[in-house]
Order: sequence, then C-alpha cells, then structure tokens
Amino acid sequence: MRRLDEWRVTDTGTSQEDILANGNRMLMGNGYLGYRGTTEEADGGDMSATIVSGLYDRYGELWREPVNVPNALSVRLFTLGGEALTLGSRFLLSHEQGLDFRYGIVSRVTSWKVEGVTVTVRSERFASMASVHSMLLRYAVETDGPLTLVLERGIDCAVRDLNGPHLGAFTHSGTASAPLAEARTLELGIPVRVSSAAAADFPDPADTIRTSRRGGAFFGGEYVLQCRKGVPRILTVHAQVSAGSDPDAGSFVPAADPFGGASGEYHFREELSRHKAAWDAIWADGDVVVEGDDDARRALRYSLYQLQIIAPRHGGSLSIPARGLSGQTYKGAVFWDTEMFMAPYFLATDPAVARSFVGYRVRTLEGARRKAAEYGLRGAFYAWESQETGDDACSDFNVTDVFTGRPQRTYFRDKQLHISADVVYGIREYLSMTGDWSILADGAFEVIVECARFYLSCVWYSPVRERYEILDVIGPDEYHERVNNNAFTNRMALLVFRTLRECEAELARQGSTLAPEVYAATGFDSELPLLADVESRLYVPAPGPDGVIEQFDGYFRLEDASVEEVKSRLLDPKEYWGGGNGVASNTRVIKQADVVVLLNLFPRDYDDRVKRANLDFYERRTEHGSSLSACMYSLLACEVGDPQWAYPFFRKTAEIDLTGESKQFAGLVYIGGTHPAANGGAWLSAVRGFCGLSVSDGEISLSPRLPESWTKVSFTLRLRGRRHSITVTKDGYTLC
Ligand code: BGC
Repeated sequence: MRRLDEWRVTDTGTSQEDILANGNRMLMGNGYLGYRGTTEEADGGDMSATIVSGLYDRYGELWREPVNVPNALSVRLFTLGGEALTLGSRFLLSHEQGLDFRYGIVSRVTSWKVEGVTVTVRSERFASMASVHSMLLRYAVETDGPLTLVLERGIDCAVRDLNGPHLGAFTHSGTASAPLAEARTLELGIPVRVSSAAAADFPDPADTIRTSRRGGAFFGGEYVLQCRKGVPRILTVHAQVSAGSDPDAGSFVPAADPFGGASGEYHFREELSRHKAAWDAIWADGDVVVEGDDDARRALRYSLYQLQIIAPRHGGSLSIPARGLSGQTYKGAVFWDTEMFMAPYFLATDPAVARSFVGYRVRTLEGARRKAAEYGLRGAFYAWESQETGDDACSDFNVTDVFTGRPQRTYFRDKQLHISADVVYGIREYLSMTGDWSILADGAFEVIVECARFYLSCVWYSPVRERYEILDVIGPDEYHERVNNNAFTNRMALLVFRTLRECEAELARQGSTLAPEVYAATGFDSELPLLADVESRLYVPAPGPDGVIEQFDGYFRLEDASVEEVKSRLLDPKEYWGGGNGVASNTRVIKQADVVVLLNLFPRDYDDRVKRANLDFYERRTEHGSSLSACMYSLLACEVGDPQWAYPFFRKTAEIDLTGESKQFAGLVYIGGTHPAANGGAWLSAVRGFCGLSVSDGEISLSPRLPESWTKVSFTLRLRGRRHSITVTKDGYTLC
C-alpha cells in the first residue's frame, strides 16, 4: 500500500514488482551519485544500484551504459542457522519503507519473527548533499526477546548490470570495519573507489575480509549480535564513492576514517544536519508551493525532489540522463529531454545547473562533429543518445522485435535531426534568462555556428517549389520515421539561424570580435550567403484553413484510426508501435506531442484559434507513449485558457514516478527508471502553464489561469541576476 503525506511517500509492498518500483520511487541522490530505493539487504536481483554521474563503460559488443559501482551500503541479517532475513523471507511480519523528499532520507521498518522473537530493523540513509561522495546509513536491530543474529555488512561487488559486467581488476584493502574496494572499468580503465567505514555499538567484527555468504566479491565483516529485549544494536556506515571519470570534481580519495574518532551516532547526526542545511538552501529557491490542492502540491514537490537529486552541481559540464541516476536504462544517455524539459526549472531557480548543461554540449561538440561527418554532413549533429564524449550511443537497432527476438532497425540516431536545434534552444534560453553572454566565448557560440552549419548541410532546395525543405527526418513523434518537412524540425532549424544572427549582433554590439574569429577558424565565412538564402526560404508548414498544422508531408493521408483502435491491433502488449511495421506507422496516431511542442515553443507565432485547433486535433490522436507528452498538452491547454482540461495532464506528469505507471518496455528492451523530463514538465505545467509565467527580453509576465482547486501558488524566479518572489492567485499576482 502506498501513501503520500506532506513530504513523505511510503509503501508497504514486498513483491518483486514493488521492489523494482520503489527502487525508482525512493531513489536518493546528490547529483554526483544516485542510489536506488532498495532495502539494505537487496541484491542484484532487486536491481539495487549506485550510479555515478558521467561514468560509462562498454562490455564486449553490448550497449555502453552507466557503471553500477559496488554497493557500499550493503547490510544483511541472518539467523544463526544462516537464513537471510529479506523481504521474501518466510519469517517476514511487516515492512514499510519511505522517502522523506524534503531531505532525501530513505527509511524502513521491517519485522520478522524468528524462533518466536520479533526482530525489527529500522534504518535511515541519505546521499549527502553537503559532500557528494558520501552516503550515510544508520541501521538499528531490535528484538523483543533474546536472540543471536549474524549481521554481515560491507561492500557488495556482485552488483548486476543490464549490459555488463563493467568492472575488473578488483583490489581491496582496509579492515573489515572500514574496507576499501578499488577496481577499473573494463573499456577505458577508469579507476573506481568505494569505501565503507562502519561504527557499531557492538563488538568489532572478526577482522577478516572475506567472500560474502551469497557468493561473489564482498569486502566487509560479519558481526555476531547477541540481542536482548528492547536494546537496539546500532550500526552507522559512512560510505564514500569516487570515480576517475569525473571531468570536473578532480580525483577524490576516500578518507580512511571519515568518523574522525567520533561515535557513529554523533557523526551521523552531524552529517545529517549538514545535509539538511544544504537541502534547506536548495528549497529556498527551488520550492513551488501550491495551496488549495494538497495532492498537487505534494506531487509537484516530489517531482522537484527528483530533479534536485540528479542536478550536477559538482561540475561545470555535466548534464542529466533521460532516466536520471536511477539505473542503466536508456544507456544513461542524455537526450533532448534536458534542454527542453528540465533546463527551464533550473534556469528559473538555479542557473548554475543550467550552465552546466550548456558546458556539457560544449564539451561534447567534437563528438557531434564526428557524427555529422559520419553521415556526410557538416557542422555538429548532436548525439540522439549522448554519453561522456558526445558520440552517439543510440544503436541502429534500438528496439528488439517481440515476435522474432531480433533487433529491429530504427532511425532515431540517423534521423532525429531536431536534436542539434534543441541544443541551440537550450543555449538561447540560458542567454535569455541569465543575460550571461560569457558562455558564448566559453564555447557556446561555436556550438551555435556548428549547428547552423549542420542544418545548412541538411536542407534541400526544391526548384519546383522554390523553397528549402528538410527531408527524411523523425520529429518528436518517433512512431513515424523518415518523414519530410516535419513542422517542428523545420521551425527549430530556423530558430538556429535566427539565434546565430541575434548572437552575432549582440557580440558586435558589445564590441566583441568573437563571431568573425569563430567564422574564420571554422571556415563558416564561405557559408554566410547560403545562410541568408536558406533563412529566407526555409519552408515551415503553416496552419491549414481549419487551423491544423500538418505534422509532416502526407500525414493527413494516413489512416485516421483512433488510439484505441490502433491499440487493439497489437498482437503483443510489448510490441513496438512505430517503425516499419508498427501498428501506428500507417495511421495518424502519434506517440507524443509534436506539433503541440512547436506551438508551446513559439506561442507568439500562432493565434488562439490555431492553438486550440491543434490541441483538439492532436490530443485525440496521441498515445502519450512517452512520458514527455502529457506536460506539453497541459501547457497548451493553459495557453488557450482551459486549465481544467490541462489539469489531468499535469497530474499525470507530476505523479509519474509516484505511481510508477509508465511504459516499462520498448519492444523487449527494458526502459524503466525515473522520468526527469516529466518531472521538469510538472514544473512547466504549474509555473508556465497554470501561473502563465513567460519571460521576454528580460521582462516577466504572468497570466494566471489556475485550476479550480488551486487557490495560490508561490515560487521563486531568478532572472538576470535578480531573485523574484512570485505569488499567483486566481485574481492576480504579486511580484517582488
Ligand atoms: C521519447 C523521446 C525521449 C526519450 C528519452 C523516448 O521514448 O520518444 O522523445 O527523448 O524517450 O526520454
């Protein structure tokens, strides 16, 4: 059973499905690392994982993915006879685990009945926001009678990978109560260090480092606990994780004695109060308080929590993967999700994080250049699935066919051309919100130039229609592959050209010589005449007489079947809807918002009639098969003054990781995990949608259209170095 309180989500489920769902739901993290919400005794089968931001590896020919580093918070309790006390144990009496999402504290209370004695474990843990390499755990065992138990704790190296293993050359040192495991990634030999120091209020373990009872490499110790009624036995663990992959944080060496001589209890309390202070500082700007609707307030705050625990504050050039730090799905890759769905929240509340996203694209520019060259194109074609180098992790066969078990050819990597424009959109928004032009000289201008050059090399001139077109692409709706003149893609390409012009003009105004220097260095001078021509004659599909914009050439000729009808044609629930043979491919049913994204990004280009017409038309035809979809419909519904229509979409996007109701498979490929883009979408829906916040030329405007149940929304906005507190009610707003 799941419950949501003011700042807390709890669950009592113990099935394998619950364990997987809680792994995501109760994820803890601090931007440097993410640790799944499993119990301390969980193993690979429960998909326990510690994921370090920016650390990837490839095993053999399998997909490159984040490395699941050894589990430094592993604690297992056994009966004297050697039977493990787990959630699946026959001795289990009750279990409740929870996440305090104000402070990122994961706790549990679990009881078992062993030989007539009730054993209760209470634990609390957090990934320190104050020192990102640290995780702390307090683990207490209590019985209601005398009982001897065995407690094993330390570093479990037998973690499970989706496409691994990823670590080798393990060495260990330290002691049973403070072991240190070191290893190297297989592909690049990147060093990984994990330590796990413990302080216990019971005798030290036998000082031997040994193999776990469950097999596999385990470094730690075993304690024999003589439990007495009502006397809790308390263990405190201070784990430290570092990986040499981190481009920004330098190489961190775990402290041999993080307790510094203090008692476990005292040290835990001290670290916890530093951690809470860091969270208080985050919430001071990062919170959004909805009044009148408790469920909405909690779900929105929970979404913001999910974003905050993966925000890369420790580095200047890191981004956020599509599944955050919740595991290895989607190859830990960064998609357009960051710029389009997550960055707006950080731009408004913590621009340094948004600057890191730009820094990441600057750092990976070479990879984007390599990709463009690979396709015979010029400039920068950003990776659809980007990892640490910017080379594309997206495979040519990204979906597995349910029927044959064979990899299915997909064109996300080759044809999702809009990605480079999304990167430029992110830079443009950064400039607009912060006024910090220094990023241009720090590489962002070169990114814009190379993206403009990329689109210049993609367009085709049609002498018959006397216009430039962009052919053979995939728009945001991935079910229709290789289409011509996707309205979103074409308009975004135009945005790239315009952004380049505007930046060039601003740099000139500032007396900077950056633009001519970059043009000369990259040979872009010779392309300026073409740029002017393409800019003036690039085709952007316009609304038809009924106001509806055709998503791509020929879309209106496709079969007009309903979503339900198309769904009923599936032969297998896990079947992929798109691509060559998908059930949606020859119909107008789309995976996710596409034209609707366009209308949200360029609200001034279209009037209300057009917005409403497209909202009505496309919503009925959208499967919402991507978690990125709901928030876009919510935003547009607000834009046309219909917050009640928008509201269920808001709830859907804000609750996605609470309910766990999202697609878990694309074909046979597991895609579960958290959904930071949808979490960012919750902020977009609430603040840009219901409060009607927009910013143009440094001016704030608000046009409240709160849903019925909401009485007030308060939030912070950072704009060009100033901090504003904004309160919106049904009748108006205050801004100071
Ligand atoms: C969506 C993409 C998205 C990706 C990662 C896919 O299912 O179609 O738009 O970028 O997931 O979230």
